Amino acid sequence: MDRYCVFGNPIGHSKSPAIHAAFAAQTGQQLTYEARLAPLDGFAAAVQAFIAEGGKGANVTVPFKLEAHKLAQALTVRAQAAGAVNTLHFTEQGIIGDNTDGAGLVADIVNNAGVAITGKRVLLLGAGGAARGVVLPLLEHRPAQLVIANRTVATAEELARQFAALGGAGVVSGCGFGQVEGPFDIVINATSASLQGDLPPLPDGVFAPGTLALDMMYGAQPTVFMQYASGHGALARDGLGMLVEQAAEAFAVWRGVHPATGEVLHRLRAAL
Ligand code: ATR
Repeated sequence: MDRYCVFGNPIGHSKSPAIHAAFAAQTGQQLTYEARLAPLDGFAAAVQAFIAEGGKGANVTVPFKLEAHKLAQALTVRAQAAGAVNTLHFTEQGIIGDNTDGAGLVADIVNNAGVAITGKRVLLLGAGGAARGVVLPLLEHRPAQLVIANRTVATAEELARQFAALGGAGVVSGCGFGQVEGPFDIVINATSASLQGDLPPLPDGVFAPGTLALDMMYGAQPTVFMQYASGHGALARDGLGMLVEQAAEAFAVWRGVHPATGEVLHRLRAAL
């Protein structure tokens, strides 16, 4: 049986083994997928050990996505753009680094939430690794505008500058939270503020009735961002769909078949 795993630290609560087991059963693929704790100073060695054991591919989560980017011998265009790798493919040509996070987010927005990105005004909150990973896939859907807002304004401006040429004239811009001028059709929270129960300080008017407000975080309860957005008329969504979709995209990279995600998402939601 072909072997896959997810590397992280910590990794105990990862939902990826259950998600990939469900995908394998659904598509009739023969494979195993396990969670592996890599030492904080031993990621590369852990990957090499897994390859030596016959591993065919791996997902990579916190805190190893930048190290995985360095370790890869070749990078897909979207992994280059993201500056981080969440999916490794061990091939005869070497270790290929890919990033399926952005594709997962876009699939969740377009297919699961049923909201088109094309022609819309999109606000991306945050300019760290999670935000960077989704900029290219968002731009591929040709939004009318993509505003990147961050607590550290210079980081948002720099990220916008890097992607400006890809978005078309005047589409991508960066600013601080205070300079954001709404309303937006889609607001994506890619800051880690929700982890601390914090809310990016947004001015009034960012949300309108029907705005899709997506937090990349998830939990049994709505995040503070989701609560705030709902209170301002937005349709709030957490990051569980993105998690399942990035997994489906990784599964497709490895196995050449794209699993259906609806039932897996439904089951994960029920178990939160
Ligand atoms: P990740 O990989 O999760 O994106 P990161 O690269 O450390 O982690 O980036 C964290 C992001 O969340 C950054 O955009 C950070 O803002 P700064 O660039 O100003 O640090 C943002 N962030 C973290 N805590 C925040 C908070 N309490 N309020 C607003 N933004 C926050």
